[in-house]
Amino acid sequence: MFVRRVVVVGTGYVGLTTGACLASLGHRVVCADVDADKIARLSRGEVGILEPGLAELVAEGVAAGRLSFVLGAAAAVGTHEGAPEVVFLCVPTPMGVGGTADLSVVESVIDEVRELLPPGCVVVNKSTVPVGTAARTSELLGRDDVAVVSNPEFLREGSAVEDFLNPDRIVVGCDRPDAAERVAALYARLGAPTVLTDAASAELVKYAANCFLAMKLSYANALAELCERLGADIADVTEGMGYDRRIGQVFLTPGPGWGGSCLPKDTRAMLQVADSVDFEFRLLRATIDTNDRQRQRVVDKIRIAVTGKRGGALTRVRLGLLGLTFKANTDDLRDSPALAVAALLRQAGAELVAYDPSVSSDTVHPGLDAVNVVDDPYLAAKDADALIVLTEWPEFRTLDWSRLAETVRRPIVVDTRNLLDTDVLRRVGFVCTGLGR
Ligand code: UGA
Repeated sequence: MFVRRVVVVGTGYVGLTTGACLASLGHRVVCADVDADKIARLSRGEVGILEPGLAELVAEGVAAGRLSFVLGAAAAVGTHEGAPEVVFLCVPTPMGVGGTADLSVVESVIDEVRELLPPGCVVVNKSTVPVGTAARTSELLGRDDVAVVSNPEFLREGSAVEDFLNPDRIVVGCDRPDAAERVAALYARLGAPTVLTDAASAELVKYAANCFLAMKLSYANALAELCERLGADIADVTEGMGYDRRIGQVFLTPGPGWGGSCLPKDTRAMLQVADSVDFEFRLLRATIDTNDRQRQRVVDKIRIAVTGKRGGALTRVRLGLLGLTFKANTDDLRDSPALAVAALLRQAGAELVAYDPSVSSDTVHPGLDAVNVVDDPYLAAKDADALIVLTEWPEFRTLDWSRLAETVRRPIVVDTRNLLDTDVLRRVGFVCTGLGR
């Protein structure tokens, strides 16, 4: 196997996972960030994000001398012992004006390293960016002797390391096949199917995949509503559908809507991309609208469960929320549907006490203004008129439900993730409502 000298610019979820995993594959990796405190913490092996297996990989890479952290992209490119052969850009591409991705960070990194990149080096874009960004980056860079490659990342938060090291596929796009092959070779040990294509197609794969996943989830959420009206059970319906290999069993669990830092941003960006070429992407618009509606639908269900009627008042109602993050196994609160539902409940006058295994009463986040965060699930349940499961943390299943039944004021559970074992709950006296059953 070839050992490559790699620089990774940006140590967020994607950058840090990429750096640590490439080092674990044997490459020599220098990671750069603009945040001096973060670099100091990472150099001491403090990862700072909740991501299973990541801290261990970082510690291993640092101890083996294959992974290091430096302040600033220029320093990483300039001080790599031996010039870097591949430079990954893993920097934020937030939603900019009108829903397009804001590329200012990519641009400033390019400005910083332009003169420092050795001839023959390959710049790889791993961030999710609009089609045409590789071409634009190449123009900005203005170096014929440095190729720009698109190599989108498909990892999920909460299983980033696992996803990186066991990928379903590797996608590499570049108009120069030699550069694309060099990047693909970094992953050769993983034995994943590899799609070598042009840069625009590689860039589109990422949006196309995320938008399809969002569509699948909105479909499952709409189907759950239909199940309720028809007296069917969504779990059985999706299981029955899912055995069809063209459909698959996963990503069909209904919930309070899809969220996080990727799907909401990418679906909107894709709509914008479609608009820019006069394509009216109605299917995607409906996917987003269905998701926006889902939050309100969950609130309506809670109203009915607690007050017994549509439109019942939630003022002076105390709700114990279980889960705040956008999904389980992460501490990420960005665009969390749980927080969106909490905001609607608060607007409706409910008093909210919340517990989440990865959020503490000291956590600072604007979405938490609507809730009183406590560090103990039984405290969240104290005198509650209902318990609402908003994130699918597995440990909620094994809470002491008899104790909870004695702690709440009224034994009502609304499980927006269909996570809990309703037989167990009913046995101890809870009245349960889920989605689509
Ligand atoms: C998503 C994609 O799944 C990754 O493939 C992609 O690489 C990543 O975005 C990205 O663009 O970087 P992630 O945002 O980490 O990953 O989260 P997901 O696991 O996709 O979950 C998204 C939302 O869908 C969450 O709110 C989750 O709770 C919800 N969800 C997921 C459901 O409601 N039901 C399901 O069956 C699955």
